[in-house]
Amino acid sequence: MATKKDLIKTEQQIAIMAEGGRRLAEVLAELRDAVRPGVTTLELDRMARLRITGFGDAPSFLHYRPEGAARAYPYTLCASVNDVVVHGQPSDYALREGDIVKLDLGLRHEGLHLDSAITVPVGGMDAVPKDVQKLLAATEESLRAGVKAAAPGNRLGDIGYAIARVARKNGFSIAEGLTGHGIGAELHEAPTVFNFGDKGTGLELVEGMVIAIEPMIAIGSGEIVQLRDESWGTRDHSWAAHFEHTVAITAKGPRVLTMR
Ligand code: MF3
Ligand code: CO
Repeated sequence: MATKKDLIKTEQQIAIMAEGGRRLAEVLAELRDAVRPGVTTLELDRMARLRITGFGDAPSFLHYRPEGAARAYPYTLCASVNDVVVHGQPSDYALREGDIVKLDLGLRHEGLHLDSAITVPVGGMDAVPKDVQKLLAATEESLRAGVKAAAPGNRLGDIGYAIARVARKNGFSIAEGLTGHGIGAELHEAPTVFNFGDKGTGLELVEGMVIAIEPMIAIGSGEIVQLRDESWGTRDHSWAAHFEHTVAITAKGPRVLTMR
């Protein structure tokens, strides 16, 4: 059984994760800048793999088998387009102006994993409709609210509450069944970080915990279905956004390790 102690990283481990997070943020920023009409998601995957291995680090997702998946994931990057929420597999699909693409990436640096995601409008913010612009802004805002709630003495439910409040205030839905997670020697560790919750409930957050906070928000209903490549899409095909940071709980408050 996982004890509370298993959830706690040492200062030294957090320093390693901060360096990994800095590298991951750098790669994600490069991928963001490479997104334009005509680029294929496989090209982005290759860029990500070469950059991460160039650092001497390892792609966290490559060969990883997520819970509920039948097979190991064969790519470095998850690239999920429009109504695909997460775990989209890179392909020869060429991005089109007006698409949104979720770039979700993880790396292992000196034995410790970092995980981060962004949603990028292809062709710039003006290329997507107003409701999609609002979705991207709301999902980023919900991540900021979740991070702010990740302070020692607060509880996991405070994070979920903060995330869901922003989604609902904007008339959007939390994608059901998808969560954030603890992170460290494993990509997915305890605790599960839900994107909804009640204030003051759940595990108490204490100094040394490191968690991936990752709101996934849809314009329509939050119901999701698994697609043939094992990615998850919205049942109603409404578009969804995803932003994620790896965050350490410190005495001074939340510390974003993957700051862009
Ligand atoms: N990035 C996902 C997460 O945030 C994990 C990807 S699992 C993979 O938890 F199999 F797709 F790699
Ligand atoms: Co994650």
